[in-house]
Amino acid sequence: MAKVTIKNLYKRYGKVEAVKGINLECEDKEFLCLLGPSGCGKSSTLRMIAGLEDITSGEITIDGVRVNNIHPSKRDIAMVFETYALYPHKTVFKNMSYPLRIRKLSKSEILTRVQRAAEILEITDLMDRYPRELSGGQKQRVAIGRAIVRNPKVFLMDEPISHLDAKLRAHMRGELKHLQKELSQTFIYVTHDQLEAMSMADRIAVMNHGLLQQYDSPHNIFNQPANQFVAGFVGDPPMNFIECILTVEDGWKLKHDEFELSLEDKVQQKVQAQTPQFSGALNVTLGIRPESITIKREKTKPNEIAGQVYITEPLGSDLIVDVTVGQERLKIKTTSSFEGDRGAKVFLEMVPDKIHLFDAQTSKSLM
Ligand SMILES: Nc1ncnc2c1ncn2[C@@H]1O[C@H](COP(=O)(O)OP(=O)(O)OP(=O)(O)O)[C@@H](O)[C@H]1O
Ligand SMILES: [Mg+2]
Repeated sequence: MAKVTIKNLYKRYGKVEAVKGINLECEDKEFLCLLGPSGCGKSSTLRMIAGLEDITSGEITIDGVRVNNIHPSKRDIAMVFETYALYPHKTVFKNMSYPLRIRKLSKSEILTRVQRAAEILEITDLMDRYPRELSGGQKQRVAIGRAIVRNPKVFLMDEPISHLDAKLRAHMRGELKHLQKELSQTFIYVTHDQLEAMSMADRIAVMNHGLLQQYDSPHNIFNQPANQFVAGFVGDPPMNFIECILTVEDGWKLKHDEFELSLEDKVQQKVQAQTPQFSGALNVTLGIRPESITIKREKTKPNEIAGQVYITEPLGSDLIVDVTVGQERLKIKTTSSFEGDRGAKVFLEMVPDKIHLFDAQTSKSLM
């Protein structure tokens, strides 16, 4: 059992307020990702859970026990860093067994635990090598192995694979997710890479400027972002945003210099539920993901928006088309069979139920 609860957590470094009142509950056996841009307070939060950093105010509990003043070594957690922090003059076996030797476990117990961890990580044949004889991915496995042998209640990982090359990173994502299910332990994992968080986490805590923006499943983070920041942070290429005016004069419409869109009943109902007082006009930001826009060479429906191809970016099976609509530039994800050179006239259809609307002032979702 290892449930981690964070209540009203603050971290100040002198004048810098790095974490500003975070509340989170990570369930036992859950894979939680802390996701956000550089400097948003992810590492500070993780280091306070680990006990490597003092808590300015607030409370952290592990299985109901307040750990604020408990020494890191007594919290029963293991932390894996981006820099593997392996001992260069010790073999892989010695590196992995080190935490057990300092705890004075018996030789046979040490051997069993290291072997088991090495099997899980598929590094049994590397036991006699030195760190300098290992690839980046292998070193990272050894560092994780050293955490596994201790059998901690909670694994904390701070960008453990962010410096590996793209192919190895993609491989390690699958491996880490598999490992977490295999060990059936609580993982709290820090990353600034939305793809990592989306592909591995049970739940994602999106942070920005020391504040929690949304804490939800990857599906809901992607499909029901709470605000414009979350919407723009997940997804690649990112969501397109267009400033519009929402009016209800003659039916619910989005008005823009270049186009006018009637909103579907479903969208209307959602917005109405969020803004019951609304009548007249409201400044909003329309959000639409590149994959939720259909691009064509001929106009076939009234709701379609005219634009011009700015540039195309072929990605193998997919094609990203940059289209200008007046002063706006939109990205559309389509298949490689689309044909349209620079300057070609095109028509865009936004998939009606994939539209997001944000309050232009507060940037909160209106849906
Ligand atoms: N020891 C420190 N002294 C002063 N300021 C610090 C210290 N550690 C972090 N900060 C500041 O606190 C804020 C949050 O830092 P933190 O390391 O938690 O961010 P992060 O989300 O992990 O970023 P990154 O993705 O770059 O690792 C930043 O503005 C950072 O400059
Ligand atoms: Mg960090």
